[in-house]
Amino acid sequence: MPRNNASVALGLMSGTSADGITAALCRFSGRSVRVLAFKTYPFAPALKHKILGAPDLPLAEISKLNYEAGIAFAEAARKFLKGRPRPAVIGSHGQTLWHGPDDSPANTLQIGEPSFIAEAIGVPTVADFRPRDMAAGGQGAPLVAAFDEFLFFRRNGRPTAVQNIGGVANVTFIGPRGVTASFDTGPGNALMDLAARLGGQGRLEMDAGGRLAARGRADDKILARMMAHPYFRQTPPKSIDKNLFGPQFLRRHFGTVTPKKLPDVLATLSWFTARSIADAYRRFGSKGISTAVISGGGAKNTVLMRRLSEALAPVRVLPSDRYGIPVMAKEAAAFAWLAWRAVHRLPNNCPKATGARGPRVLGKIIPA
Ligand SMILES: Nc1ncnc2c1ncn2[C@@H]1O[C@H](COP(=O)(O)OP(=O)(O)O)[C@@H](O)[C@H]1O
Ligand SMILES: [Mg+2]
Repeated sequence: MPRNNASVALGLMSGTSADGITAALCRFSGRSVRVLAFKTYPFAPALKHKILGAPDLPLAEISKLNYEAGIAFAEAARKFLKGRPRPAVIGSHGQTLWHGPDDSPANTLQIGEPSFIAEAIGVPTVADFRPRDMAAGGQGAPLVAAFDEFLFFRRNGRPTAVQNIGGVANVTFIGPRGVTASFDTGPGNALMDLAARLGGQGRLEMDAGGRLAARGRADDKILARMMAHPYFRQTPPKSIDKNLFGPQFLRRHFGTVTPKKLPDVLATLSWFTARSIADAYRRFGSKGISTAVISGGGAKNTVLMRRLSEALAPVRVLPSDRYGIPVMAKEAAAFAWLAWRAVHRLPNNCPKATGARGPRVLGKIIPA
C-alpha cells in the first residue's frame, strides 16, 4: 500500500455550472496552502444534461444519478491522482441538485455518492458538508467562507472581498477582525451559459472569453428591471438556488434568445453579474474594501472582468492567481481544506457566514 502524504489533501468540486469536476491537490502547513496541481474533467454530455435537467427527473432516475455522479467523481480522482502525490484525505463537495435554506426545515441535496471515491482511491473521503451546519441552525452555505478567512485574514492589511464567480456568484468580506459577512451576491455565469446554449442552438456551452458579449450592446432598461429583484435587498445570511436566476428568469426578461439577439443578451447579462456584485458590496460590504480577489470561471471572461472593474472602482479587482491560488482551483482547494480540517476534528464552518449557532466540524467521513 503506498503511503499517504500527511499534509496533502485532494478537493473535488462541481458547482452550479455543472461544467465538470475540478480536482485540486493541496499541501497544507500552518497557515499556508500550496496548490500542487489542478484540473477540470468535463462531465460526459449525457451526464451534464441529466444534472441540469434533474428537477424534472423521476425519483428512480435521481437515485441512479447520485450513483452515476459518484462514479464520475471517483473516475476524475483516479485519473487526476495518477503519477501525483497520494493525499491523506479527499474532500468532495458533490453536485448540488437542490438548495432550500429558507424551507422549513432548511434542506439541501448534494449528490455524487462519495463511497465510490473512497472505494476507488482507498483514502478517507469526506463529503456532505452542508447538513451539519444546517442542523446547527445555519444556511449550510457558503462553505468556502472559512477557507477564505484562512487565506486572507490579515493578509492584505485592508478589508478584502473574496469573490467567486461560478454558476452563481458569492463573496466573503474580510475585515480587521475576520469575516464580516459571506453570501451569494446573485448570478454568476450560469445565466450567460444558459443564454449561450439557447442562442447558440446547442453549439455553445459558454461565451468563451466573453467574445460574443464584447460585440453586443447592453439594454439599460432590462438591466434596471433585473436589478429590482428582491433578492438583492435581502439582508445576509442569504443563499440562492441557481433556479432563482434560471431559465424562467431569462425568458421573463429577454423572451426567446435567438442567435441574432445573443450578443446583446450576453452584454446585458455581463453587466447584470457585475452590477449585482457591486450592489452587494455597497449594501453589505465592510467599510474601506481595497481589493476584490476574484476566482471561478467568471475570471476567464474578459468582458465580465472589465465590467466588474468598472462597477467596483476604485476597488482593485485581481484574480486569485495573484495570491497563489489559480482561479479555477480555488473552490476545489476549499474542499481539500474542509476535509483536512474534518479529519483533524477541527471546526470548518463559518458561523458568521452561514448563521449557524457556533463552530462545527462539517462533513461525513468514509474511512479508507
Ligand atoms: N474561458 C472562459 N471564458 C468565459 N467563461 C468561462 C471560461 N472558462 C470558464 N468560464 C465560465 O465559468 C463556468 C465554470 O466556472 P466554475 O467556477 O467551474 O463554476 P461552478 O463552480 O459553477 O462549476 C463555465 O460554465 C463558464 O461560464
Ligand atoms: Mg465548475
